[in-house]
Parts: sequence; structure tokens; C-alpha cells
Amino acid sequence: MRLVIHSRKEPYSVRLGDIPGFSNLSSDEKVLNYTIRICGCGLSQNKPFCDGHHRLTTDEEEGKVYTYDLENKRIKAEEYYRKDMKY
Ligand code: FES
Repeated sequence: MRLVIHSRKEPYSVRLGDIPGFSNLSSDEKVLNYTIRICGCGLSQNKPFCDGHHRLTTDEEEGKVYTYDLENKRIKAEEYYRKDMKY
């Protein structure tokens, strides 16, 4: 079992040209300037890419732990994890 905590509420933006060695694969400026978005929230259904599910996290309160079921419904983490568990 593994519990992974994500606190980020937005994707990481990565410009292809900034990936080490990528310019060896393409010298096309349009390709090098293309930006991909990598999921930082952990909720994407299309990992590693962002699919917009991070919008579910916008009203999460700082310091609280949330979890989401397979239908993207927010559920109270305390109902799923022991209260004495250290995060
Ligand atoms: S950052 Fe996770 S879906 Fe967008």
C-alpha cells in the first residue's frame, strides 16, 4: 500500500526545448517552443499529462487533507485513513 500526498493545485509547464537533449531531436523552433503540461495535482486520468482535473482542488483549504473517489467526488480523508496517521 502506498499513500501519495499531492499539494500542488496546478500542472507543471514544460517547454520541450528546455528538456535536456531535446534539441538533439528537433531544431524546429515551433516544436522546441511547444509547452506540455504535466499533472502536479495527482488527479489526472491521463497521467503524466494534465487533463484539467486539478480544477477540483481550487477550493481545498490549506492544512487539510482531501481524497477523491474514482468518480472524482471529494471525500473526507479522515473516513479513509486512521486519525493518528502522520502525513
Ligand atoms: S495538474 Fe493534475 S490534472 Fe491538471
